[in-house]
Amino acid sequence: MSRTPVPGVTVRAPGKINLALRVGRRRTDGYHPLATVFQAVSVYEDVTARPSVTLGLSVTGAHADLVPTDGSNLALRAAQLLAETVGIEPHVHLHLHKGVPVAGGMAGGSADAAAALVACDTLWGTGLSRAGLGELAAALGADVPFALLGHTAVGSGRGDLLSPALSRGQYHWALALRREGLSTPEVFARFDETDGTAGSSEPEPDVALLSALRSADLEAVGRALGNDLQAAAIDLAPDLVETLAVATRAGALGVLVSGSGPTVAALGRTRAHALAIAAEMTAAGVADDVLYAAGPVVGARVVAG
Ligand code: C5P
Repeated sequence: MSRTPVPGVTVRAPGKINLALRVGRRRTDGYHPLATVFQAVSVYEDVTARPSVTLGLSVTGAHADLVPTDGSNLALRAAQLLAETVGIEPHVHLHLHKGVPVAGGMAGGSADAAAALVACDTLWGTGLSRAGLGELAAALGADVPFALLGHTAVGSGRGDLLSPALSRGQYHWALALRREGLSTPEVFARFDETDGTAGSSEPEPDVALLSALRSADLEAVGRALGNDLQAAAIDLAPDLVETLAVATRAGALGVLVSGSGPTVAALGRTRAHALAIAAEMTAAGVADDVLYAAGPVVGARVVAG
């Protein structure tokens, strides 16, 4: 006789690349005003929520050993916040299967939080609206709302105020991963020490990039890629210079550090070209691992249960 599996809900949420990231002067609350264009890409976190007598967490997948499993884990905090909001106990076990690089600047932890919100919401039948979940997402972290939304969006405020952006075509990326991650607060702090005071209090989104995305002009998208945190990330991880150079020599249309790094994203003309850039980065020994990803893709959604 086969055992009946414990019912569960699995939600998949994407990682992101900041195609452009403009960072302003540090605010009094410690955050920085941003104008960014997010693209959700096909590296995913899968979060399965199952009923349990206590709040529990397990993690598998790439570099699972680097994921915190204590109270700082963003998926656990998401389940707790949702339970508190609707007035129930967080009796759930969360299993995270990691596909987004850990501490890589691609918002893997934020994707876990977004997926956990949707999974617990479905499991508990709380019936919160997407807007209600969006508010909880913003309370959990600046990048969590985008992992819920997916596709392409302009982020302002701390990066959590989103407006969807029109984007045509498919974008093919080679991602260079570095096992040793970078801490987002440390990268912002280095930005403050170097470029910080020159920044505007209200950075503007990149018009050339948005126009290139609307017309699916790959070359123009490549030219418009840019990240104000890149110099700070390179200061903390100088070997990124070589990674960027190898991708450029391999003919990438554009190349940049993703978010606060250290993942490097290189735009190919086609899937085959992105795979060739990834192979060059592997051969040159400038990445601990490489991945292919395509974007844009949808935000957090139920895939089973
Ligand atoms: O919101 P989240 O917890 O993901 O942010 C992590 C850290 O990154 C913040 O504590 C802050 O130091 C920095 N940050 C920032 N400005 C932003 C987003 C994040 O300074 N807009």
